[in-house]
Amino acid sequence: MRVAIFASGNGSNFAHLVEHFRGHAKVDIVLLICDRAGAYVLERAEALQIPSICIRPKEFANKSEYELAIIQQLEAYAVDWIVLAGYMRLVGPTLLHRYSHRIINLHPALLPAFPGKDAIEQAYSYGVKVTGVTVHYVDEGMDTGPIILQEAVPIVEGESLEALSEKIHEVEHRLLPKAVELLATSEVQCQGRRVHLNSSKTIEGEKSSR
Ligand code: GAR
Repeated sequence: MRVAIFASGNGSNFAHLVEHFRGHAKVDIVLLICDRAGAYVLERAEALQIPSICIRPKEFANKSEYELAIIQQLEAYAVDWIVLAGYMRLVGPTLLHRYSHRIINLHPALLPAFPGKDAIEQAYSYGVKVTGVTVHYVDEGMDTGPIILQEAVPIVEGESLEALSEKIHEVEHRLLPKAVELLATSEVQCQGRRVHLNSSKTIEGEKSSR
């Protein structure tokens, strides 16, 4: 499984993925794609010795041209899976069709609650008692694809937004590598919206996708 990570900002999830899969038998993180010049994740990639490419949408006539430029790089690195880890942009049909059922996304809330941007803050402001983290397949909607893994995070009385954000990130740093690991080592079947993971396969076994 040759994986490209897409990220737009800080990149803590990118760094955890890289550390988790160093020397892994089935998963190779081969590339970082970033859509923002100067994003801290680019520095992280350099420090972690992962090739990175910054491709800015502004430099292209439209989204399709932008995504074609990304695809060119993904093909150059023989990427077969994409993980969106803090990539703050909707994936368009061009990339979606080329990597059909091979793009997953990390979201900092329990979908379908609080999709879109600032999900931690949305949940906090709403006053929910439980929020969490979701890893899901990407489809054409905003955070609407079939769910692979979720973990709940309680919001305790008097907790600050900063404290909640920290708790969410801690869960993300565990849950996203776990989801990638499952995709690499399990039989995955998608029946409608339901994702079935059969992790009976050993790490040495043959990989299959959904
Ligand atoms: C993460 O919390 C991720 O769930 C969120 O951006 C953050 C990136 O953190 N993604 C979204 O909100 C996507 N809708 P990081 O840059 O430190 O990995």
